[in-house]
Amino acid sequence: MNLPNGLQRIHPSQLSVGIYVVLTEHWMRHPFLFSSFVIANEKDLRTIQELGVDSVLYRPDKSKAAPLPASLAAAAVAVPEASVESAEHQALRQAQEAAKRVRIERVQALRKAVADAEKHYEKVSDAAKSSLTRLHAAPAESTTELLALTEELVKDFGADGSTLHLLGVSKRDAAAHNHAMGVMVLAGMIARGIGMAEADAAAVALGGLLHDIGRVKVGESIWKRKEGEMTAPEASKFKMHPAWGEEMLRGVPLPRQVHEAILMHHERMDGSGYLSGLRGDALPLAARVVGLADRYEALINPFSLAAGLQPYQALAKLYSEEQGKFDPSCLKALIAALGVYPPGTFVELTNGQWGIVTSFDRGLPTRPTVALYDPDVPRAEALLVNLGEAEEVSIARAVLPTAMPQAAFDYLSPRRRMAYFPSSRPT
Ligand SMILES: [Fe+2]
Repeated sequence: MNLPNGLQRIHPSQLSVGIYVVLTEHWMRHPFLFSSFVIANEKDLRTIQELGVDSVLYRPDKSKAAPLPASLAAAAVAVPEASVESAEHQALRQAQEAAKRVRIERVQALRKAVADAEKHYEKVSDAAKSSLTRLHAAPAESTTELLALTEELVKDFGADGSTLHLLGVSKRDAAAHNHAMGVMVLAGMIARGIGMAEADAAAVALGGLLHDIGRVKVGESIWKRKEGEMTAPEASKFKMHPAWGEEMLRGVPLPRQVHEAILMHHERMDGSGYLSGLRGDALPLAARVVGLADRYEALINPFSLAAGLQPYQALAKLYSEEQGKFDPSCLKALIAALGVYPPGTFVELTNGQWGIVTSFDRGLPTRPTVALYDPDVPRAEALLVNLGEAEEVSIARAVLPTAMPQAAFDYLSPRRRMAYFPSSRPT
């Protein structure tokens, strides 16, 4: 059988220090952090040879040493060592077992942190949805509840030691609700990032949740159409949604930031936005924050999810093509909140493995947690590695889905909707 990447199959006895080995054993059955790596020392060599496997794969192009000839290796193995396992040997075996257990527990903890964040997200999402259903009938009560919700939420944003997770959001909610949720979270993070006090950030986050409420007056059929596909009257109607939204809440006692965010979230710093073409300082901070959060969320989760940009592509677009439209300090806060490799980014590691960033700890922007592609491991059991704890491997580059093998993309793809949610607990 032909093996990919020039891989060759050899007997474990042929291995030596310097060989780039690829273990095909499930990650739970060996004590190494990664399944492919250069054998660094005699200890690792012995560990592999004692896994009890019939063969291993190695990559000649990445190896610093050649395998031993099969005949010689067999002879070396044939020479019996001490008949009783030495104390040193026994200690090594026990240490390996312990390392394996720690590693499995660690992966389970990382998986639990994501599951907890997912549960928390769903809880907040359900609470927001239930309050929103009463927005028209009882706007004051509804918004009071929602403000209490965002006040609670922003406490977790931007705290040192907080972790941002990528969630796969289920399709049970309408895309519009998930978009509003996404904008709320991002707006809250940006607001905290630029130094807003919690109460102000909560108001801005609420503005993020409510920014598009005017859509009900636009109507679904126009709303779902792409900009270029609207007739001129339809486009004019569409562009009224910020004003209609703000009108719906006029007279409701809310922090001014909520009104500003709804009314002006399509205004841009260079005056190119709508409805009034406001420019620069005339644009309130709440509207700048929510406008940016709305734009970023729409780029990574458009109506047609397949057309969504990778997080770093979206950031690059905001910085290049759309430069001048957004407040640089808000952009900086967005990047700080998402990390150098935002959750959802596909990456190639320095050991050649493919992965997707799943979480990022605020203190370690370049060393996030990554789920790794391994065809021999079921997707639900994919190995999660916190690169903050794996000094030997790092991210070589962020990659586009088209630049990676289809099988790796299908395995890792989060192409349900991408959502971010932070947790303040250390994971
Ligand atoms: Fe909008």
